[in-house]
Amino acid sequence: MAQVKEQRILDFVLQNAVKGDPQSVVDAIDKYCSEKEWAMNVGNEKGSILDKIITETQPSIALELGTYCGYSGVRIARLMKPGARLLTIEMNPVHVAVAKQIFEFAGIQEKVQILEGPAEKIIPQLKLNYEVDTLDFVFIDHWSDRYTPDTKLLEECGLLKKGSVLVADNVICPGAPDFLQYVRNSGRYECMNYLSHLEYSERVDALEKAVFKG
Ligand SMILES: C[S@@+](CC[C@H](N)C(=O)[O-])C[C@H]1O[C@@H](n2cnc3c(N)ncnc32)[C@H](O)[C@@H]1O
Repeated sequence: MAQVKEQRILDFVLQNAVKGDPQSVVDAIDKYCSEKEWAMNVGNEKGSILDKIITETQPSIALELGTYCGYSGVRIARLMKPGARLLTIEMNPVHVAVAKQIFEFAGIQEKVQILEGPAEKIIPQLKLNYEVDTLDFVFIDHWSDRYTPDTKLLEECGLLKKGSVLVADNVICPGAPDFLQYVRNSGRYECMNYLSHLEYSERVDALEKAVFKG
């Protein structure tokens, strides 16, 4: 059977990165996707902004919506302190299988748990099934038409507290206008926009940080 791009990314990591070295995994994925095939990882430019926010926030418990190959998961988990947890939700089983191997190879599997299924089904189970009280940090990076409903679902499920930091990717390219409208105008968030570029490209894109006011 023909290999899919995500398996080719995994193969490149296994052959070129260093086992147990998360930064080398991040670098190998960036190299492959800049030189060989474009892929929808957050990428190094926006990833560096994400790194700064993670370092400032120091989440004990973080959630990611949209694991894909695990690139941003590795970036986030490598900066989290020992004992901290990243839960990452992914509905595509091929992406889940690739990300699982990427996390194991990077040596961060103790910190990261992949939850397979649609975010809208898993978010309501987080408290009961995954021992979550409230989330310190959420990286919103699945399909952008789900950003607003899933943010509202996080609120309704009592998963956000005063100071919970949400970061949404691709708010310019392909864009998430209803999400920006909601977080900037609902009165529930303190927002900041980080202008950048779409991964592995010169097209303008941005991350939106939205801090829940409680
Ligand atoms: C842009 S990629 C994530 C990239 C990843 N965060 C990174 O930067 O390395 C989006 C991923 O979200 C997944 N996805 C889309 N809608 C979803 C949903 N409702 N629930 C769970 N996963 C979803 C897709 O299958 C895809 O793997």
